[in-house]
Amino acid sequence: MAEKQSQWWKESVVYQIYPRSFQDSNGDGIGDLNGIRSRLDYLARLGIDVIWLSPVYKSPNDDNGYDISDYQAIMDDFGTMDDFDALLSEAHAKNIKIVMDLVVNHTSDEHPWFIESRSSKNNPKRDFYIWRDAKPDGTPPTNWGSCFSGSAWEFDEKTNQYYLHFFSKKQPDLNWDNPKVRDAVFDMMSWWCDKGIDGFRMDVISMISKPDIYQDSPTHGGLYGDSSITCNGPRVHEYLREMRQRVLSKYNLMTVGETAGVNLEEAKKYANANGTELNMVFQFEHVDLDSGAGGKWSKNPMSLIALKSNLSKWQNGLDGVAWNSLFFCNHDQPRVVSRLGDNSPVSAKAIATMLHMMQGTPYIYQGEELGMTNCPFGAIENYRDIETLNAYRELTESKQREPEELLSCIAYKSRDNARTPMQWDNSPNAGFTSGTPWIMTNPNYKTINAAAQINNPDSVFSYYQKLIALRHESDWKNIIIYGHYDLLSPDDPDIFAYTRELDGRKLLIICNFTAKSRRYTIPEEIKWQNYKSVISNINNNTLARELNLNPWEADVWELI
Ligand code: GLC
Ligand code: CA
Repeated sequence: MAEKQSQWWKESVVYQIYPRSFQDSNGDGIGDLNGIRSRLDYLARLGIDVIWLSPVYKSPNDDNGYDISDYQAIMDDFGTMDDFDALLSEAHAKNIKIVMDLVVNHTSDEHPWFIESRSSKNNPKRDFYIWRDAKPDGTPPTNWGSCFSGSAWEFDEKTNQYYLHFFSKKQPDLNWDNPKVRDAVFDMMSWWCDKGIDGFRMDVISMISKPDIYQDSPTHGGLYGDSSITCNGPRVHEYLREMRQRVLSKYNLMTVGETAGVNLEEAKKYANANGTELNMVFQFEHVDLDSGAGGKWSKNPMSLIALKSNLSKWQNGLDGVAWNSLFFCNHDQPRVVSRLGDNSPVSAKAIATMLHMMQGTPYIYQGEELGMTNCPFGAIENYRDIETLNAYRELTESKQREPEELLSCIAYKSRDNARTPMQWDNSPNAGFTSGTPWIMTNPNYKTINAAAQINNPDSVFSYYQKLIALRHESDWKNIIIYGHYDLLSPDDPDIFAYTRELDGRKLLIICNFTAKSRRYTIPEEIKWQNYKSVISNINNNTLARELNLNPWEADVWELI
């Protein structure tokens, strides 16, 4: 029982809020904590258990809060610590937990630690960050590139050395090999836990342990060396075990690591079932399947066969030994309904069915439950994201890409697609703000919005509500949460079909991932005498071995 209680996160559905774009309460065009408070009823109605709050800490906003200048204060734009405390207690009163974003691979360059660190070579905080001399020829210590374009090293004239930053130059990397850094981070985490928060989503936690040797890495034809050499570094598991012992083990938390560059073997360590590190990780293989020669900036369609094979590898590989997180959308990904789907509500429902019937903890990103789509930003001036803007500048100035062609890939993949204001209703700016929003509102808010969906039983919102309820209170809940997964018809390019099985009971999930009608024969090895409909996005009540599936049809059956 105690064991079971401490694993509440396995039975939860998480909702990610990107506070800047969720709800503005004071007309300055920026979402805030009081805005979130005013929407808790909406989240309770959807039925989610946990909010993952993207960073709300004090920040100069070079990367929208992922550059923190004070871990124990709230960003001015978002409100005050009193607002936060009110949000936490109001959420708890509605049985909603709050998981904080923990960004400790780096701080802001405006954090007092860094201000001290850069002030002199013998400052006590010097070794809080990673400082190196130039190469003998005066160039940066290594050829490593930043994830946000340019070199990962920035020269600082004051002390004549370079500091390391795997993201923007306003995000210097912390030196986790320094025990004082770990003490400071663990103290700060305990302070939040003592406040009563319910867990952490750990930003790029796979990057905290840097390579033992600082040397050039392969450029793969680009301008800079591959920065993924810093993923899953030599001491990352040791540091997470220390974090578990010193902080996490003392509370009843949910922890999820954002583990760029993770593979199955590494994930089994990070999210091991013995609980010595984290509860689960975000892996990115499935959302990188459509990368092309130009990396992320491509418009390759995602092959369903490749997607099925990848997700099945994770379902089978972690079963019983670790735990999966289930996601397609977050603040770094374009909208899934514009990527795997065709922007239609029925395609949004099909994608949701496929994901939410898998083993693991599902994550919903704000607006996904409405079928919110990518945004027609048009000109580069309409984008706000530092990754997008830096990549556009670097790749066009270096003539590696043609502006028009690159812009069309940016339209498809930019993180800003996820960051447009939440579409609440059909009033100006989608009900997000009475002022001017910090980023454009998707013009389709007049038709795609919460007000139009919450009372409509056929809406995407109502469908998500049903999927969540199935996991929480249906007769099938244990099969959905814990059942063993088996992929069917791996070579079918259009149909995503699988079974889930627990204690002799079996669910069959069939999703047509195309906008055309498809005939599908259920494989012979699947047998049933009777069946029950669990959910269907087109209200199909009849199962047969030979099926004529409608466009984007998704059905779940119990086979009896
Ligand atoms: C993570 C975050 C992303 C951020 C980066 C640097 O990948 O999800 O939004 O830009 O880390 O903190
Ligand atoms: Ca505001």
